[in-house]
Amino acid sequence: RGAAAGELDLAGRHVVVSAGGTREPLDPVRFLGNLSTGRQGYALASVAAARGARVTLVAAHTELPDPAGVDLVRVGTAEQLRAAVLAAAADADAVVMAAAVADFRPADYVPVKIKKVDRAEPEPLALVRNPDILAELSRHRAAPGQVVVGFAAETNDVLVNGRAKLARKGCDLLVVNQVGGGLAFGSADNEAVILAADGSETEVPFGPKAALADTVWDLVATRLTTRNG
Ligand code: CTP
Ligand code: CA
Repeated sequence: RGAAAGELDLAGRHVVVSAGGTREPLDPVRFLGNLSTGRQGYALASVAAARGARVTLVAAHTELPDPAGVDLVRVGTAEQLRAAVLAAAADADAVVMAAAVADFRPADYVPVKIKKVDRAEPEPLALVRNPDILAELSRHRAAPGQVVVGFAAETNDVLVNGRAKLARKGCDLLVVNQVGGGLAFGSADNEAVILAADGSETEVPFGPKAALADTVWDLVATRLTTRNG
């Protein structure tokens, strides 16, 4: 890590981290969800707090215990996550989007439990697009020097897809994980390459999610120091 162990190099900074998987309800008992455990986001939040930051952790679905020393905001849907992240980002030095945000949600919420009676075949499920929170954060920065970080899980052509995604989103850093074959989702360890808007690449070897979190905060801290001391 760039900062010496125990150094509070993020003291005086406010950082926002989103984590977990959003859930998009179909009816009062059903939802569209994903396999995110929240572990990488929680590791990012805990490591930032250990390095002295004030941390707002916006958590979608996860079964992890509440981490110590962070302000925790619980959300369910992508829309709720967007509102909570944008509110917290207003005075943040950095925002890290580690949450797995549903790209689509059911077009209609049925306020009573959907019954199968009289339906031999199900109706097709109509979906609508959710807002792209990372793209919005990147385009409309709350402050000029605010650092915005995204995550991307790719199964193939990891660097090519990652570079294209970084450009499309407009963020400063994109942490790209190769997924499939038991990697990333649900596992305690992670391997990644962090792509930066300035063209640099940082390889993070397979290891604990806290180690990847430390490298992310190293890169964020460097950018904060360069931009506004
Ligand atoms: N993200 C977001 N809002 C969304 C979807 C994704 O803020 N509606 C964020 C995620 O939190 C992550 C990054 O965007 O930090 C990349 O997510 P990913 O699913 O890899 O990218 P998409 O643009 O959704 O592209 P695709 O799923 O088609 O690969
Ligand atoms: Ca997506």
